[in-house]
Amino acid sequence: MIGGMTPDLYRLLHVVSLLIAFLGIGGMLAHEAGKAPKLFAALHGIGLLGMVVCGVGLMHKASPAIGWEPWIFAKLGAWVLLGAMPVMVKRGMITRFLALLLTLGIAVGAAGLALVKDWRF
Ligand code: HEM
Repeated sequence: MIGGMTPDLYRLLHVVSLLIAFLGIGGMLAHEAGKAPKLFAALHGIGLLGMVVCGVGLMHKASPAIGWEPWIFAKLGAWVLLGAMPVMVKRGMITRFLALLLTLGIAVGAAGLALVKDWRF
């Protein structure tokens, strides 16, 4: 089944997953740390999982396949940060407002990367 998935389907699911993850983070950041409905933490987790699975799937399905290039590592860094965001807020390492700004920055940065990656820096 997975073998039959086209690159376009992976790309679509990668983007849908990231929308789900951002929805989850948004919901979590709208509440005091730890007080958001569990639904948002679930959306955050499911979105992150879908993002990395479909992102790596996309690397392999793209033709020619995409290797572990620098922009992919930058994306992985963005992904780790997105995953850590609620934890960092909960532990009091950053405020909810800073988390919001960081999340916005990641959104702009990672989407920008998707656009400029063909420069192959
Ligand atoms: C988890 C690690 C990630 C991997 C392995 C990954 C991989 C990829 C790959 C291979 C592509 C397709 C590039 C191409 O078509 O040439 C892509 C596209 C994209 N990625 Fe990621 N990505 C990751 C994380 C992220 C994150 C964290 C974001 C946003 C916050 C993101 C946003 C996008 C966007 C907006 C596109 C463009 C989609 C399109 O062309 O329609 N990715 N990603």
